[in-house]
Amino acid sequence: MALSTIILAAGQGKRMRSNMPKVLQPLAGRPLLSHVLDTARALNAADIAVVYGHGGEAVQAACAADDLRWALQAEQLGTGHAVLQAAPGIPDDHQALVLYGDVPLLTIATLRRLIDATATDALSVLTVDLKDPTGYGRIIRVAGEVVASVEEKDATVEQRAVTEINTGVMIAPGARLKSWLGALRNDNAQGEYYLTDVISMAVSDGVTVNGIKADDRTEVMGINDKKQLAEAERALQARLVAELMAQGVGFADPARVDIRGKLTCGKDVFIDINAIFEGEVTLGDGTRIESNNLIRDSRLGPGSVVHSNCHIEGATSGSDCEIGPFARLRPGAALANKVKIGNFVEVKKSTIADGSKINHLTYIGDADIGTGVNVGAGTITCNYDGANKHKTTIGDGVFIGSGVNLVAPIDIGKGATIGAGSTITKPAPEGQLTLERSKQITVSGWKKPVKKGK
Ligand code: UD1
Ligand code: CA
Repeated sequence: MALSTIILAAGQGKRMRSNMPKVLQPLAGRPLLSHVLDTARALNAADIAVVYGHGGEAVQAACAADDLRWALQAEQLGTGHAVLQAAPGIPDDHQALVLYGDVPLLTIATLRRLIDATATDALSVLTVDLKDPTGYGRIIRVAGEVVASVEEKDATVEQRAVTEINTGVMIAPGARLKSWLGALRNDNAQGEYYLTDVISMAVSDGVTVNGIKADDRTEVMGINDKKQLAEAERALQARLVAELMAQGVGFADPARVDIRGKLTCGKDVFIDINAIFEGEVTLGDGTRIESNNLIRDSRLGPGSVVHSNCHIEGATSGSDCEIGPFARLRPGAALANKVKIGNFVEVKKSTIADGSKINHLTYIGDADIGTGVNVGAGTITCNYDGANKHKTTIGDGVFIGSGVNLVAPIDIGKGATIGAGSTITKPAPEGQLTLERSKQITVSGWKKPVKKGK
């Protein structure tokens, strides 16, 4: 049976105390809602409807995609009313699965179990046992069978003692769900149209109701405030790191790493503490990432080492490169093999061929550097004239002395040596020493300044 999902994302999320709509709050670097969208997509849902309201345009802009159907809930009159806004688009013969935009950690395995346990004409609700069920809807069973879900504010003292709660996730036949939604009333403690009331309607109609228990409490966590958001972040990070450890990746401390995107690792990768990975990052076999590194959208080849305190974005390296400590690789930094980028070196939009070394205090921008080049400390490619960027080309085997300004556009021929302290503005020929320096003078009769008396 085809599946339609309805994702509820219209709430304001008052308890976040934020100008940002709740479903856009970031979890592992992405909006809460985009995690739920991923889940719906992984289930191969034929139709994904998102009920939006609060911060409507921002939510649509952040999660825009062709496969989504947006249903506006102009006024937030309850979860049942929210589903009703998306109901016209749900085909009668689909199974309709309701997910919440603020419940982002559900696993595909649990949802598959829920879907598989649900017969064509049945309703299933995902529940969980909580030591402290405060705030949640309670699942009421009679002789073991689910008969209702009662909101805390409407519950009797006896019902409040129940520890099995409604996670909010529910699946029912499209046609049935639509007819039940049409019959919802709001004569309850909150004056809202509760989605949960369809459970007792199903029972009245003689439809089988299953209460399927989730094993893991963190999975069904609803996120309402910053504390729960932080708890969910740690839970998700623990899950991501566990997956990588199962693949053989070593972590100095699995609790001190953050993955905000997709991290792909080869064999024998080791990651020390406080590494942050953002976007798509790939680490080749035997790569070692030392402490305090931020690596974003980059690919590092096998055997490469990133020493402590580097900032790496949009960069690539071949094998056995050494980066840092305190290096910055910006977008378009492309290192070949056995390249060394040392401390306080910044590289932007430049290619650096095999075995070249830039070890200290240097800026390389818009440059093509050949093999076996040595760039001395304090060298700057002067790539910007205030209006345009210009290119620097350095041939194989060049030696650039310390403190050199290479004023681009400029070409340094193969095997050339550039004398320390030079400002090079004209092409330097192959294999020769080129330098540019003013004459050294010693000023006779010069006196050291002395401190004025008081
Ligand atoms: C809801 C359930 C409760 C369950 C809990 C699990 C109902 C009546 N209650 O309570 O049984 O234990 O979730 O976390 O269903 N939303 C809308 N439009 C609305 C109201 C809500 O889109 O008019 C969305 C919210 O943005 C949120 C979700 O629905 O994503 C849940 O709403 P929320 O107000 O947080 O419901 P709870 O009180 O937590
Ligand atoms: Ca909630």
